[in-house]
Amino acid sequence: PYVVAEPCINCKYTDCVEVCPVDCFYEGPNFLAIQPDECIDCNACVPVCPVEAIYPEDQLPEEWEHYTQWNEYLANQWRDLGYNVTEKTGPLDDAEAWEDAEKSEEDILT
Ligand code: SF4
Ligand code: F3S
Repeated sequence: PYVVAEPCINCKYTDCVEVCPVDCFYEGPNFLAIQPDECIDCNACVPVCPVEAIYPEDQLPEEWEHYTQWNEYLANQWRDLGYNVTEKTGPLDDAEAWEDAEKSEEDILT
């Protein structure tokens, strides 16, 4: 499956959700996650993300490899809550400022 990694945090442009043929994105306040059993590996979401946050699982930069687990965990939590997202809701207000800023994984859950 494909995986949303750190650059999405606090940006959440959501261009990705509009092109996903199987609607497998789930939305938290500051981050999106791909549900790995639903993703069909079509690659459509990769080129539309303005901050290059999405990777095939086996091509994740090493420092973000643990985002595979984050995506599965968060997508399942958010799916249970009904937070499927299929239409553009972003970007977040400060997305541009966050593009080059240091991110904290704690922000994913706040
Ligand atoms: Fe959706 Fe395709 Fe991206 Fe998987 S790779 S999340 S199926 S757009
Ligand atoms: Fe995040 Fe990029 Fe989608 S910033 S919401 S992965 S378009």
